[in-house]
Amino acid sequence: MTSLRSNEPETLRDQVREGYTRIVQDAPDAARADEAARRLGYDEDQLRAVPEGANLGVGCGNPTAIDALKPGETVVDLGSGAGMDAFLAARQVGPEGHVIGVDMTDAMLEKARENARKVDLQDSVEFRKGHIEELPIEDASVDAIISNCVINLSPEKDRVYAEAYRVLKPGGRLMISDIVLERELPQKVIESIDAYLGCVGGASLRSEYLDTIAKAGFSEVRIDRESSFAEAIPLEDPRVREAMERMQIGEEEARSFASAVTSLQIFARK
Ligand SMILES: C[S@@+](CC[C@H](N)C(=O)[O-])C[C@H]1O[C@@H](n2cnc3c(N)ncnc32)[C@H](O)[C@@H]1O
Repeated sequence: MTSLRSNEPETLRDQVREGYTRIVQDAPDAARADEAARRLGYDEDQLRAVPEGANLGVGCGNPTAIDALKPGETVVDLGSGAGMDAFLAARQVGPEGHVIGVDMTDAMLEKARENARKVDLQDSVEFRKGHIEELPIEDASVDAIISNCVINLSPEKDRVYAEAYRVLKPGGRLMISDIVLERELPQKVIESIDAYLGCVGGASLRSEYLDTIAKAGFSEVRIDRESSFAEAIPLEDPRVREAMERMQIGEEEARSFASAVTSLQIFARK
């Protein structure tokens, strides 16, 4: 039986928090998560550099590959999860730089902080509790914002991009991996909490999504790379299979709606 998602932003955020608490507590299969990351463009050196348990296999791109981060820069990771991209960003900005991961899920924050201690990065990477719609970060204090498969989960994407704009310094860069839709999804997918947690149900149409970034004030908005969702997240994945069963969606129908889902790597500048 499909579990429905709420239409009320606060309740929906609670459902997302509960869902991601389960995901981090279930300790995903590390080999499968690494395989997924390779498909998204992470190389072996990057996979070796992050502590075990930081890659949960829930990303949809590789944001730190969109543009080079420079030594000494301050970087914010929106929805930092168990810390994978925050740790990779920390390698690029070095000991003079600073990385702040923001996430609203306590279990994710605990896991990320534990991972930082494993690789001795607790001085250059910090994880703050907060909502990406209301960042716990000062105005004009950040050189680059990264985010991997998170903004689709926000029912208030205009607020997220307005906040990203507020905290970036003039000239600061946005480097985002996220999911967009090429056409509307079937109603049973839109209503399903599984599809929402799977970063599909809450995704916007491509043109709307790119407009939201431009309306927040960003310039130089460009797509650095794109891939079809089916390439990034195969239907054979057991988590996808389970969700398909709960939504009562067969293979053919799933392939058809997966073809409407695209993962974008987006660059923009304040
Ligand atoms: C799909 S996971 C991605 C995690 C990480 N970026 C990665 O690639 O491994 C989504 C993460 O975003 C967080 N999240 C979702 N909505 C959020 C919001 N509105 N504010 C803060 N964090 C949020 C969740 O708690 C979860 O850790």
